[in-house]
Amino acid sequence: MRSAAIAGLALLSSLATAASVPPIVTKGSKFFYSNNGTQFYIRGIAYQENYDGGGASGTGDTGSDAYTDPLANGTICARDIPNLVKLRTNVIRTYAVDPTLDHDDCMNQLADAGIYVISDLASPRTSIDSNAPSWTVDQYERYTSVIDTFQKYDNVIGFFAGNEVINTPNQTAAAAFVKAAARDMKSYIKSKGYRDSIAIGYATTDQADIRENTSDYLNCGDQSDAIDFFGYNIYEFCGHATFQSSGYEARTEEYSNYSIPVFFSEYGCVTVQPREFLDVPILFGPQMDDVWSGGIVYMYFEYGGKYGLVSSDGSTLSTKSDFSYLSKEIQSATPTGVQSASYTPTNSPRSCPSVDSETWLAKASPMPPTPNAELCSCMVSSLSCVVSDDVDPQDYGQLFGEVCGYGKHICDGISHNATTGSFGAYSFCSAKDQLSQAFNAYYESQDKDSTACDFKGSAKTQKASSGSSQCKALISQAGGAAGTGSVTSQPTGTNAASTSTSKGAAAGANTPSAVMVNGWFTLSTLMAVAVTGSLMLFL
Ligand SMILES: *[C@@H]1O[C@H](CO)[C@@H](O)[C@H](O)[C@H]1NC(C)=O
Ligand SMILES: *[C@@H]1O[C@H](CO)[C@@H](O)[C@H](O)[C@H]1NC(C)=O
Ligand SMILES: *[C@@H]1O[C@H](CO)[C@@H](O)[C@H](O)[C@H]1NC(C)=O
Ligand SMILES: *[C@@H]1O[C@H](CO)[C@@H](O)[C@H](O)[C@H]1NC(C)=O
Ligand SMILES: *[C@@H]1O[C@H](CO)[C@@H](O)[C@H](O)[C@H]1NC(C)=O
Ligand SMILES: *[C@@H]1O[C@H](CO)[C@@H](O)[C@H](O)[C@H]1NC(C)=O
Repeated sequence: MRSAAIAGLALLSSLATAASVPPIVTKGSKFFYSNNGTQFYIRGIAYQENYDGGGASGTGDTGSDAYTDPLANGTICARDIPNLVKLRTNVIRTYAVDPTLDHDDCMNQLADAGIYVISDLASPRTSIDSNAPSWTVDQYERYTSVIDTFQKYDNVIGFFAGNEVINTPNQTAAAAFVKAAARDMKSYIKSKGYRDSIAIGYATTDQADIRENTSDYLNCGDQSDAIDFFGYNIYEFCGHATFQSSGYEARTEEYSNYSIPVFFSEYGCVTVQPREFLDVPILFGPQMDDVWSGGIVYMYFEYGGKYGLVSSDGSTLSTKSDFSYLSKEIQSATPTGVQSASYTPTNSPRSCPSVDSETWLAKASPMPPTPNAELCSCMVSSLSCVVSDDVDPQDYGQLFGEVCGYGKHICDGISHNATTGSFGAYSFCSAKDQLSQAFNAYYESQDKDSTACDFKGSAKTQKASSGSSQCKALISQAGGAAGTGSVTSQPTGTNAASTSTSKGAAAGANTPSAVMVNGWFTLSTLMAVAVTGSLMLFL
């Protein structure tokens, strides 16, 4: 009796709190409500307090992970949702969320208000670095843990695998790592049996010399490797511009045959103040509503004294004139679009850009391998020479420089180059695991001479273990300790719940990518020294 009553209560309370919104689904280049096939247009607001543009935006490991999760405090969500509703908001974009916190309260309140969420997967500490890009075990674990936490909410449309990572021609190699991240998150969602309409996209910077190649690259080829939607951070329409003068007309033409949904992932030029948002009726009107699925205004909270729709004096929140202007213009955002059932997509994916030393540095295939924490820990166990435990991660960069400088191929197993499409089998492992791999490669190149596993005490020998049969299989696919092969199987132990030997090391000051940059810069210097040194010996 008692337990039945409790069960009944639990059921009632779950019914009361489980807000129901129909998931949004993607078909061709449009979004639809899954319940009735009505086309879905994003009337979005970026929503992240104290957001300084870092974190999600290609900064790699900033060493700090300070951010305020905007979806973890129900009191604050309850304060802000009425304002969002006044702006007819149906999507918020968040930039960094903390997968260890409870989001039920905010997510349910948002669902009750008909508001969906698209979030970035990165954090200030863990994002794909524009200038030293990589796709590592650490990043994989961060991304999958956010998906694990948010996949259960029907009002999640999807996630950005990167935001403004590829910003200049010399950063275009990063596109390979963004695309690998999208590929792996899509396959992770599938392998976990999560809702299959959860979509993975990218938010691009508005940069004329790379926009076409970036759009092509992320969309081309096998569609299970490609992004599901494309977000455009665009600040082209300022003040009293027009469809033609702003650049919106040209952009609309460029995306008119794109095969996946495209929308403004940030908009709201601030060079003319206050912002009157005269682009809103255009974006949601007949000139654009067949190509674009709406947009996300940057942003709710005040940032840099310019971008806020509201401002706060510390205790009370007040709306700015931008808020009133947006509220007025967004009333006209009433496109009807098409019904899913009567829509037959005809646009095909773009073809992949080819590598060009001036304009495009990401080879379309092969792509970076899927980070596999299990492989990394199997690899470390199999080595005879590894990093000593007391080495300060700050010193890794110098040690990479030293060991990689000892021979042309010593570091093949841990290096990667997206332009040539060569990826060492262990190139996604943590910095510590990679350094062990390199120490061991050098040790073996010296026929395990006892002096070759030392590095002034930074390296130590250990008894190599061949490990489980699973380890043996993985290592063999990876080309053994040298790491010149490639593992293509799905990682089994790399979700948030798993622990791996690589995680602790990567939480240190250096990401593998940062270390590799140091390593390679030092490498060329040390190579010169090494060459000079041996020449001197010969003389
Ligand atoms: C389809 O469902 C959505 C979500 O419930 C609703 O907002 C929309 O108005 C519906 N479309 C029509 C044409 O009723
Ligand atoms: C939520 O925010 C309110 C208002 O700022 C604050 O008083 C409260 O302590 C916060 N709650 C949590 C759990 O952080
Ligand atoms: C691109 O060029 C800028 C400016 O010269 C430089 O700071 C940055 O490190 C370069 N990035 C890469 C990946 O080479
Ligand atoms: C899409 O249109 C562009 C011109 O805007 C053209 O270069 C491209 O080939 C078209 N792509 C497809 C797949 O039709
Ligand atoms: C990249 O795009 C530019 C035009 O924006 C074009 O001139 C260049 O050829 C493209 N590169 C490749 C490899 O397609
Ligand atoms: C990748 O390899 C090419 C060709 O060897 C080289 O020019 C380029 O600098 C390499 N890129 C990186 C990031 O090391």
